Amino acid sequence: MKLFCYFSILLQNFQLFYVLVKAYTPTPRYAHSAALIGNKLYILGGDNDSPTTQFTPTKDFFYLDISVGFNTSNIPWTDLSNVVGTPKQSRAAVSAGGPNKDIIFLFGGGVENPSSDIPLVYTFDNLKNVWNTPTIKGIKPPRREYIKSVTDDTGKMYIFGGSYNIETGNSTWTFENRMDILDTIGLTWSIASQIQAPTPRDAFSATLLPNGIIANIGGYVVAGPTNLREISLYDTKNDVWETMTTVGTIPEVRAHHTSVLGLNNDRIIIYGGFSANKKIPIVHDLSVLDIRNKPYEWFIPNISGIIPPTPSRHTANIVGRYMIVTYGFIFSQEYINPSMYILDISDDSEYKWVKSFDPNSLPVSSLNPNPNSSSNSSPNQNEHSISTGTMIGVIIGTSLASILITMFALMVYRWYKKRNMHMQFQLMEIQNYRLIISNETRRLKC
Ligand SMILES: *[C@@H]1O[C@H](CO)[C@@H](O)[C@H](O)[C@H]1NC(C)=O
Ligand SMILES: *[C@@H]1O[C@H](CO)[C@@H](O)[C@H](O)[C@H]1NC(C)=O
Ligand SMILES: *[C@@H]1O[C@H](CO)[C@@H](O)[C@H](O)[C@H]1NC(C)=O
Ligand SMILES: *[C@@H]1O[C@H](CO)[C@@H](O)[C@H](O)[C@H]1NC(C)=O
Repeated sequence: MKLFCYFSILLQNFQLFYVLVKAYTPTPRYAHSAALIGNKLYILGGDNDSPTTQFTPTKDFFYLDISVGFNTSNIPWTDLSNVVGTPKQSRAAVSAGGPNKDIIFLFGGGVENPSSDIPLVYTFDNLKNVWNTPTIKGIKPPRREYIKSVTDDTGKMYIFGGSYNIETGNSTWTFENRMDILDTIGLTWSIASQIQAPTPRDAFSATLLPNGIIANIGGYVVAGPTNLREISLYDTKNDVWETMTTVGTIPEVRAHHTSVLGLNNDRIIIYGGFSANKKIPIVHDLSVLDIRNKPYEWFIPNISGIIPPTPSRHTANIVGRYMIVTYGFIFSQEYINPSMYILDISDDSEYKWVKSFDPNSLPVSSLNPNPNSSSNSSPNQNEHSISTGTMIGVIIGTSLASILITMFALMVYRWYKKRNMHMQFQLMEIQNYRLIISNETRRLKC
């Protein structure tokens, strides 16, 4: 009976150890979305089969704690797909919203068996770890896919364009050019001006500039991937569209690329995607748009490090001094990027592809995407993450130690019992052993 108890303690320790040490390795994907909230880079949904086969949206949902360092060869993802209500989707628009910008808002995207019963908007509360489907006032916009959204500092989420297809419940493939605005604090829908709006498209990139202008770049129009000489600017403060003809080294036409705002807020960095022929890797997959003066000027940055194969339908987020790229489909080689790319953009005169992420070189404020909440919610999150990390370390350490001690004690116990010698010493050992086990028993309530 006692031996069984010891054995079960051992087993429990072993299971705990296994659960904590075994890293979660997500299936490679594309057309997923990503959101950075506090110290967590969340990845949501996406397809995980070849684009030529069936539509395969996933219910995957996981995050990376960016307050700890890691290597691209071993990324410590944490699985959240078991959180009740995680939607199964792909190609959706995702942005951080709510009063503290700590709620994930997921709009539209492609779903299996689309119907009006499937919620158009899901929210995930980063602090409570809960999915919701909020009731939103106003006229509900139609579901569409391959959209990009941004949220401004008043909590408004701007959702432009996208396409209709089987996955959105439509029978034919058509494009959209309306801009829906979701107030993520007041939970109401409105629609932006259509005057001078860009032509209907999906798979463009959208970047919110510090002056409240959203820059929409490229995308897929009826004729295919569109040129990058003309970009669309939407003024969120005055509800006005403008088309700008850019100058400089205009990058190749493209769609399904990403764009991020540079660290000094003076440039947009675009990356990846495909041009007219998907199979030919895009020339200058990494290009920069200098936004200091009008018209904005394109240039090709200096790049060092090992240049990775060009992805499309990937994600890109600024995390500290890095642009973090996750997954995506590599059309030129017909495979799904299984990993993450990290571009160090801290030196404007030379960007560097690196393999490891160092959180220590970052000021804490750069880990926080929302300046408003920096005084309250974020430091708490920092503490929380650090203490969680420490706790996991302590648990792993304790488990390992108790496994070894238990095994050793059990071995010693048996060995002495079998030989039936050195009675006194045996008794001492057994007492020690009992002490260890009783500690264990108390801890694990065996
Ligand atoms: C990543 O790898 C480098 C060299 O391979 C090593 O020096 C570093 O400690 C590793 N970092 C982490 C977080 O594993
Ligand atoms: C953030 O702070 C600015 C100025 O302090 C304020 O105008 C703005 O409304 C705040 N945004 C949110 C979402 O609280
Ligand atoms: C797509 O389907 C939705 C929902 O049935 C509908 O409201 C919308 O008008 C359709 N759009 C097109 C372009 O057919
Ligand atoms: C590229 O590097 C050279 C040499 O360091 C520098 O003179 C030049 O300005 C850099 N170009 C860009 C676009 O940063």
